Amino acid sequence: ARPAARTSAGSGGAAEEAEAPGAARGGHGGPREGAQDPLRARALRAGGDIEIPSRRVLITGATGLLGRAVFKEFNENNWNAVGCGYRRAQPKFEQVNLLNSVAVHDIIHDFQPHVIVHCAAERRPDVVESQPDAASQLNVAASGNLAKEAAGIGAFLIYISTDYVFDGTSPPYKETDVPNPLNLYGKTKLEGEKAVLENNEGAAVLRIPVLYGEVERLEESAVTVMFDKVQFSNKSANMDHWQQRFPTNVKDVAVVCRQLAEKRMLDPSIKGTFHWSGNEQMTKYEMACAIADAFNLPSSHLRPITDCPVVGALRPRNAQLDCSKLEMLGIGQRTPFRAGIKESLWPFLVDKRWRQTVFH
Ligand SMILES: NC(=O)c1ccc[n+]([C@@H]2O[C@H](COP(=O)([O-])OP(=O)(O)OC[C@H]3O[C@@H](n4cnc5c(N)ncnc54)[C@H](OP(=O)(O)O)[C@@H]3O)[C@@H](O)[C@H]2O)c1
Repeated sequence: ARPAARTSAGSGGAAEEAEAPGAARGGHGGPREGAQDPLRARALRAGGDIEIPSRRVLITGATGLLGRAVFKEFNENNWNAVGCGYRRAQPKFEQVNLLNSVAVHDIIHDFQPHVIVHCAAERRPDVVESQPDAASQLNVAASGNLAKEAAGIGAFLIYISTDYVFDGTSPPYKETDVPNPLNLYGKTKLEGEKAVLENNEGAAVLRIPVLYGEVERLEESAVTVMFDKVQFSNKSANMDHWQQRFPTNVKDVAVVCRQLAEKRMLDPSIKGTFHWSGNEQMTKYEMACAIADAFNLPSSHLRPITDCPVVGALRPRNAQLDCSKLEMLGIGQRTPFRAGIKESLWPFLVDKRWRQTVFH
């Protein structure tokens, strides 16, 4: 039987519980002090009056592009969701340094999640190449440790991985195809997959391609970062037209995570590796043109570059993921790219900001 959460989820009761080990140590290993038992903190914030759902999910990387959407999706669908971040954690999320195994142990044992969605990672290929040891600590060692802790309490772990585990020479890729990552980022994510499945045979690996969605800064996503080059049409801009990509909305991945978790609650055979992806194939040049089109902006200043890029980490030409395994389980959602990108980018439209400045 699953152990009960340390802190009762009932109204008011949570506030009367004893201090959690994490609180006694002054946090979950982050650089700032003062993190508390998440259930207790939530109950206090809510004045003890809300009914907290009984299904608990812990989300790592909840301050990141994908993690924010995953947190929202579970939170809005009758799950008791606790998100963890690191540098951006406070005030909304728990601050947990995933490299600190005591902090990880504490939050998992305090909160007793049924499900853990592990989104935290170093996901920028060029940063991984320049800081390989730090990236490996987070992407591999911390993932293995999290998987072991999840197994210890019988929680279902979803480890988010990438299409960059494939070399992109023979798409589309099924879950059973042999990975062959071209760059160090893909290698660390693949090693992370292995570390997770070795430490937790009931875990799931969810591989996804390039993401976009609601961003705090345009640079947060390899898709949204193109927006300024699109909207400043007085300057010509070179755009990669070599690598075939499948831009995927973080909201859709979040739905997949929730549906997978809910299916697993009913069916313990749901485990192992899964693929999810948008189904619109585009180069960066084509994405930039679609963005221009979505906002009625000119695209004649955008220049397609058809040669293989020579700077930065090597990328696969076409690592298209075959998603039929999840589709057959009835899992998935796909937002059309134009609708999704418009929703994500409108706050960054220069023209709109200009109008707001002048008239408000
Ligand atoms: N973005 C993509 O296009 C893409 C494509 C394929 C797969 N993926 C995979 O999807 C997942 C999510 O990616 P993302 O784009 O959402 O990443 P992201 O926006 O870069 O967020 C990274 C997250 O990791 C957290 N983090 C970093 N160091 C940490 C530490 N020591 N302890 C605890 N947390 C730490 C960050 O927290 P703070 O910011 O609070 O420090 C942040 O929440 C990753 O596994 C990535 O490999 C992403």
